[in-house]
Amino acid sequence: MSFMYQDPYQRQYRKLRVSLTAACNYACQYCVPNGKKLLKAKHEMSVEQFIKAVGLIVASAGIDQIRITGGEPLISNKLEGFLIGLKQLNIPELCLTTNGQFLEQKLPALLDAKVNRINVSLDTLDPVRFKEICRGGDLPTVLRGIDKAVEAGMKLKINMVPLKQHNADQVVPMLDYCLERGIELRYIELMKMGHLATGDEFKQEFWSMKSLLDQISEHYDYAPTSAPKDSTAVRFNIPGKGDFGIIANESKPFCRTCSRLRLSSAGFIYGCLSNTRRHYIVDTLKLEYEQALAAMQEVLNTAMKDKQDLAFTGETTVMKMIGG
Ligand code: 5AD
Repeated sequence: MSFMYQDPYQRQYRKLRVSLTAACNYACQYCVPNGKKLLKAKHEMSVEQFIKAVGLIVASAGIDQIRITGGEPLISNKLEGFLIGLKQLNIPELCLTTNGQFLEQKLPALLDAKVNRINVSLDTLDPVRFKEICRGGDLPTVLRGIDKAVEAGMKLKINMVPLKQHNADQVVPMLDYCLERGIELRYIELMKMGHLATGDEFKQEFWSMKSLLDQISEHYDYAPTSAPKDSTAVRFNIPGKGDFGIIANESKPFCRTCSRLRLSSAGFIYGCLSNTRRHYIVDTLKLEYEQALAAMQEVLNTAMKDKQDLAFTGETTVMKMIGG
């Protein structure tokens, strides 16, 4: 039996994001304040626990899309096992977000597991700036991974977080790069997460949708185009060239139609990215199936109430723990 959770704004769960690990081979400026990489995470669920948890969530909530996130999911030794375990759950759409460093290497496994879409996080095409922002990784390797994925017919998007002081000059070059390759670029307005929730850094680095559109309009004609109802992006079409999107959490909040649910690698359910409230489900997994299902349904009901009413206000929750 599948329950339909719906809150007073008619929000329902549809998309589950699973953070496979909090570990990451990068330490990006906007994610990691001290620049120290977390290469091995403590308290990670096992593949069996992940699959059991996902199975219960899917049985409870009618999820039709799973996105695998991190940390960086492609450095997790649980990736292959998790993909195999997911097969039996028959999820209609399987997506993944990666920094692309191991995309070329892991591409066969991802194709084999019928991953439908991949978002690659890439903030600049300048190798020096790349090191400065990511504090790890290597630009040519990421670009090669992108080329290989496109060649293999994988549907790709690229996520770019524009920062006033680090890569605002890359807004148009990144768009050129994506349009040339038939890839949709998603600019993500900086979110007040983790260390950015307090202090001045957010204000110093924030680059708004308006600034982006001003820059783009000097080079391209564009017009608004449609996006799915629960999409986080405002989308635009450049006639004859392609589309791009802006995830404008500050300028055009999208919480009212949020359909997302998150499972962290440590076994917490988050109903909202902008809420530190979380619900530990690892003990639930030890129960026999019917009891576990009932307990999960209760958690999902509670987690729905964690969603913000209208707009993203920011939280100290660290992105790498929850996967964006
Ligand atoms: N603001 C906006 N985007 C962020 N990401 C990580 N931290 C932030 C932040 N504070 C992005 C990553 C990745 C996506 C999942 O979220 O770059 O592309």
